[in-house]
Amino acid sequence: MKTLRVNLVGREYDILIEKNLLCKSGELIKERFSPSKIFIVTDDNVNAIYGSIVTESLKDSGFEVKLVSLTPGEQTKSLEQLSYLYSEALAFSMTRSDMVIALGGGVIGDLTGLMAATLLRGIPFVQIPTTLLAQVDSSVGGKVAIDVKEGKNLVGAFYQPKLVIIDTAALDTLSDRIFFDGLAEVIKYGLIADDMLFNKLENCQNRNDISKCIDDIVYTCCDIKRKVVEEDEHDTGLRMILNFGHTLGHVVEKNYNYETYTHGQAVAYGMYLISIIGEKMNVMQKGTADKICLMLKKFDLPYNIKLADKISDTLGLDKKNDGSNINIVLLDRIGKAIIHKMPLSEFADMVQKEIN
Ligand SMILES: NC(=O)c1ccc[n+]([C@@H]2O[C@H](COP(=O)([O-])OP(=O)(O)OC[C@H]3O[C@@H](n4cnc5c(N)ncnc54)[C@H](O)[C@@H]3O)[C@@H](O)[C@H]2O)c1
Ligand SMILES: [Zn+2]
Repeated sequence: MKTLRVNLVGREYDILIEKNLLCKSGELIKERFSPSKIFIVTDDNVNAIYGSIVTESLKDSGFEVKLVSLTPGEQTKSLEQLSYLYSEALAFSMTRSDMVIALGGGVIGDLTGLMAATLLRGIPFVQIPTTLLAQVDSSVGGKVAIDVKEGKNLVGAFYQPKLVIIDTAALDTLSDRIFFDGLAEVIKYGLIADDMLFNKLENCQNRNDISKCIDDIVYTCCDIKRKVVEEDEHDTGLRMILNFGHTLGHVVEKNYNYETYTHGQAVAYGMYLISIIGEKMNVMQKGTADKICLMLKKFDLPYNIKLADKISDTLGLDKKNDGSNINIVLLDRIGKAIIHKMPLSEFADMVQKEIN
């Protein structure tokens, strides 16, 4: 089993990575913690495949377990579902010495994390991520949130889990669309922090090749995120490099009303587009965008998305802008991100030219 330790003073935690850990979740928790009750939150898709494996493992280890399964999809990250979880957990008479588990993708992780952060002013929380995106990104770092009608992730908290259990075998049941969606974030890690990871992905031809080295890949990504989070837990500086491709990715997501493209697909295109712009600004090395494009084609990610004629409004509303300047993440080279500050209007003009 591969293990990483996230070192945050007073809130350190382990990330465990191996195939078939789900059926060992009870013992992995019992070795480290002693709750009497465990409240599992999952969604109907994940519950159908993995709900009973995790529940049985926890019961075998002597815990009293209640599982609540929600409708899959982003719309579940809502105040209404949060409120429903509070009621279900309180009906289970939980105390602060009990435990909450998020079993599923980023939707379940974000919602359940916020519930755990706030119920009784905080209940110990374990992440068991089952999508590639959740394993390499959302389950590590402690950002938890729900969406409100004004926008995505606008109500949330920083609340670190006590443990992250990553069963990479669970990825086998993901559809290609959801698997490659998460792969966009993996590509991002290679681009911003690890040229060897990017090379490894260049040497993989298909999902099967990736699956053969998935444990190493997930470990490498979690390790990158660990380092960034340890330095900048509350997202006031370095953590911004994790947003490479995201400013333009958010433009895509908003443009298509969060429907046509998944987050990973939008970010994939965002990474390509920002690299074209970064090359034109003479900040990024020539040929970087082409390398990214080849990678996107190979893994069925979009490299050509039509955007609305005028995008400045969408860009202006982006929460990453800072007064009239915008911080954009570019690459000094593949494997090293840099933050570049420039006037928002200049940036919007460059993007506008590129998409017309
Ligand atoms: N907290 C953070 O730092 C952070 C970072 C990135 C993204 N996010 C959030 O993550 C969410 C997206 O997460 P996601 O992409 O995991 O989506 P998701 O949770 O909606 O999961 C995608 C789909 O896969 C299904 N699924 C999950 N695991 C499965 C498995 N092993 N086999 C078969 N099907 C499975 C789910 O039921 C769902 O239908 C967004 O809400 C985003 O805002 C949070
Ligand atoms: Zn992302």
